[in-house]
Amino acid sequence: MHAEVALKGRSFINALDFTPEEYEALFSLAEEIRTHPQDFTGACAGRVLATLFYEPSTRTRLSFEAAMLRLGGQVLSVADPQTSSVAKGESLADTIRTVAAYADLIVIRHPKEGAARLAAMYSPVPVINAGDGAREHPTQTLTDLYTIRTLKGRLSELAVAFCGDLRFGRTVHSLLRALSRYPGMRFFLISPEELRIPEFLREELSAQGITMEEREQMEEVLPFVDVLYMTRVQKERFLDEEEYLRLRDFYILTPDRLELLKKDAIVMHPLPRVTEIAYGVDADPRAVYFQQVRFGMYARMALILGILGVV
Ligand code: NCD
Repeated sequence: MHAEVALKGRSFINALDFTPEEYEALFSLAEEIRTHPQDFTGACAGRVLATLFYEPSTRTRLSFEAAMLRLGGQVLSVADPQTSSVAKGESLADTIRTVAAYADLIVIRHPKEGAARLAAMYSPVPVINAGDGAREHPTQTLTDLYTIRTLKGRLSELAVAFCGDLRFGRTVHSLLRALSRYPGMRFFLISPEELRIPEFLREELSAQGITMEEREQMEEVLPFVDVLYMTRVQKERFLDEEEYLRLRDFYILTPDRLELLKKDAIVMHPLPRVTEIAYGVDADPRAVYFQQVRFGMYARMALILGILGVV
């Protein structure tokens, strides 16, 4: 008997679309898959997943495809919309209704905020948001929560520091929202003035009574955190290349700075990394970002099973 996940037919557009209990059910299932992968090899036989990516991706697209293949399902993929009818001027609404005729589930990444929501409105099959502009990235949040839950043993009473591009980083926005629902959390936001979290998000979280300690120096915060969440400065969201280059190297986690972290802290990153974590950090057992990649695949396997109603 597998963990029960009651998400059949649901789309996943924002991190708050699922309750903490629904996330918990997904973590239990992901854990079963991670420890007993052989029990799930044929679970999605005869099912088709489509990935429709209008922005570059390595992990998110491939982890969904790997997840579906490992469940015995099939995958259709548009990795470069310029090779599809999008190049002829087809609207997202029409593309989605077409892809939905071929697939049981659609995973979409798009540069426009709100594009995944729009896709879900037109799609007769469930839609998963794999990133819409600078807004949300809920399956990275699923991955991140599962990683923290597994490696720290809990999702409460934790000090979490987000460092880097908190303005454009959609993984930060989704994860902050999701973590704000757990008790006893302490949030540190480390960014330069220009890359602080958007005002609407600060207001949304403040209205919930969440306090966030905003800092510009990472050194002041490192000794206190359980989870350090590093992010890439989001080059593609900048209008000015020089501004990007000025901010890109604002924070670099080096082995020296790592010394300031608690012995049992973890360092996460949604990846890709550019300059913000020195390669010398990778060998430290607290650097868990490649483990996080693996957790992401199991979390997405659980999500696919849940939404397709196979469990
Ligand atoms: C992130 C994204 O696309 O928002 N990548 C990912 O999906 N793991 C983070 C990033 O691109 O910096």
